[in-house]
Amino acid sequence: MKKIMLTTAVSCLSLLSIHAAEQKQIRISTDNTDLILQVEDNGRLYQSYFGEKLLNEQDLKNLSWNIREASDQTVTPYGWEVYSCSGNDDYFEPALSVTHNDGNMTSYLYYQSSSSQPVEGGIETIINLKDDKYPLNVTLHYIAYTKEDVIKAWSEISHQEKNPLILSSYASTMLYFNAPSYYLTEFSSDWAKEVRMSSQQLQFGKKVIDTKLGSRAAMLVQPFFEVGINQPVEENQGQVLMGTLGWTGNFRFTFEVDNKENLRVIPAINPYASNYELKKNEVFKTPEFIFTLSQQGSSLGSRNLHQWARNYGLKDGKGSRMSLLNNWENTGFNFNQDILSQLMKEAKDLGVDMFLLDDGWFGNKYPRKNDGAGLGDWEVTHDKLPGGVPALVDAAKQAGVKFGIWIEPEMVNPKSELFEKHPDWVIKQNNRETYYFRNQLVLDLSNPKVQDYVYGIVEDIMVENPDVAFFKWDCNSPITNIYSPYNKDKQGQLYIDHVRGLYKILERVKENYPNVPMMLCSGGGGRCDYEALKYFTEFWCSDNTDPIERIFIQWGFSQFFPAKAMCAHVTSWNRKASIKFRTDVASMCKLGFDLGLKDLSKDELSYCKTAVANWERLQNTILDGTQYRLVSPYQTNHMALNYVNEDKSKAVLFAYDIHPRFQEKIMNVKLQGLDPSKNYKVEEINLMPSSNSRLQANNKVFSGDYLMKVGIKVLGGGDLQSYVVELTAQ
Ligand code: DGJ
Repeated sequence: MKKIMLTTAVSCLSLLSIHAAEQKQIRISTDNTDLILQVEDNGRLYQSYFGEKLLNEQDLKNLSWNIREASDQTVTPYGWEVYSCSGNDDYFEPALSVTHNDGNMTSYLYYQSSSSQPVEGGIETIINLKDDKYPLNVTLHYIAYTKEDVIKAWSEISHQEKNPLILSSYASTMLYFNAPSYYLTEFSSDWAKEVRMSSQQLQFGKKVIDTKLGSRAAMLVQPFFEVGINQPVEENQGQVLMGTLGWTGNFRFTFEVDNKENLRVIPAINPYASNYELKKNEVFKTPEFIFTLSQQGSSLGSRNLHQWARNYGLKDGKGSRMSLLNNWENTGFNFNQDILSQLMKEAKDLGVDMFLLDDGWFGNKYPRKNDGAGLGDWEVTHDKLPGGVPALVDAAKQAGVKFGIWIEPEMVNPKSELFEKHPDWVIKQNNRETYYFRNQLVLDLSNPKVQDYVYGIVEDIMVENPDVAFFKWDCNSPITNIYSPYNKDKQGQLYIDHVRGLYKILERVKENYPNVPMMLCSGGGGRCDYEALKYFTEFWCSDNTDPIERIFIQWGFSQFFPAKAMCAHVTSWNRKASIKFRTDVASMCKLGFDLGLKDLSKDELSYCKTAVANWERLQNTILDGTQYRLVSPYQTNHMALNYVNEDKSKAVLFAYDIHPRFQEKIMNVKLQGLDPSKNYKVEEINLMPSSNSRLQANNKVFSGDYLMKVGIKVLGGGDLQSYVVELTAQ
């Protein structure tokens, strides 16, 4: 017995000496957060700290043993391996699972080297790891955006084995927490009920949030989450991890609480039906995981992400946005040249920047009269619009507005010439019954010919009409009956290659038309992630434009996206709500209209024009300012938030009563983010013609300090009342 123990000890020692690498510490820091990784004396890389920034460099040396105490030494003697692999000494969910050429399913990664270099906005750290028995390499990347307190992490996997390796899981990164309890907030969705926030305590075992829809991947749950450390997520206090994956396809977040009540968070592409055959020397790059660790609740975390998005994440994040009039909710498919020309004049009269033509303008053999035909045939319907797109662009010019156009280029109706010509360009299984979602199928974007075709849709429109100023890019169907006729023996890669194909198309669009803004739309908000938003200036949050629902939806998306990226349109969903209420709700994001202006009374129209002018005037504060969520619709019958511009000379407060209860105690709304030493004039704007403000504070001057500590009474006016208040430093 003694002998066996001795042999084990000796072999352990020799293993240690083989890998007795320098005990290197790698510090990934933002202004307020430290993620510290440590090469242990076995040569492998572990997370030794993730939390509030440490102030004293000399304390870092103590981290290693601290983490060993917290972890289960019988299982993981060194703590939490940063990119742990299947089949090694960790008993919980790995980052990477590989089957090697000889059938071996274990991998151990050892630290090789690391470097860091300045990149736009921060510092990139690159860490090279390698298996000691197989030629398997993993490179970990982290970019720490110092000022914004945001970190972006991804990994690259490659090998030099003779035949392809099978990857059966491939995370972007892994993060660990050691706290008494953890509370997850997730954002479930469906058509017209996007981002429903719900919270639960994470208990022992795994909680998985994933999607298997292929395209329109976020229809049922969004690719972002929050974890409250030691308490449920709160707006303004407590530690919160907020993370989102930049992947416009199947994703999976795994939250696993282990036997020592430590939590690991694993953001990844969902490996569902996706055993990936990685060829020799091919580099598998995972999606970027973007995260922030706020010490003061989700409100600060959101501000970090908003700022990061405008600076680095969003296409044209610093540019302005166009207000618009869309025709979808107004005309549906029933329009012609005259109707559209008239709407363009109405757009001008309203004061918006652009007219956006929606679905229904294309298809000849199978005209797009409804959603049952025509998708794929991107030629103008001649008898509906005889002058084609050029006549529409001209009409817009004459009216004095810009012209934008809707496309859904990744899809096809079986009733289309495209499908007749190229049935093999479609994802479907010929030997099974076809399942249609909105009467359509998804084109196989893994096929380069299909990529060319889809790119060509944009190019054809732009070549014929260089003045087209905007695209709304829709995607209504998930992938059903997954099978690619293009790459028959690579079905396990289709979900991934399809998304990569989409990025190749979008890259070409961005390269050739860098200044054409685009709205990302997916049957409402079924697609919303920061990889797609590298190519899109904004996204459509939901087809649900009932302003009450929108209050919740916009609150939900605001957790991760700046108002500048969130399109909000005034429609006639919920006519019980006044036009003022509907417009005031849309005005807190990127404003648009999608209703028959002719149906409005004179006063209502005049109100809308004033609201558009106010929004344009205050765009810089609303879209580029800092957002403070003040009153949650999830906790009250109200909602309020305010924006403050960069030099704190201007703020805009939006406040809404949904349904005040009888004799409800209504508190003042305390603003945030103002300069306490400045004095601000308070003015209610967006008033209906000939009505006066009911706010006591209207036209009075208060210090920022007072407004933030005492606040003003803006709520409690009654059902579906809204208030837009402009604050100007004197
Ligand atoms: C779904 C989108 O969400 C709507 O805004 C509209 O563009 C329709 N598609 C058109 O079919």
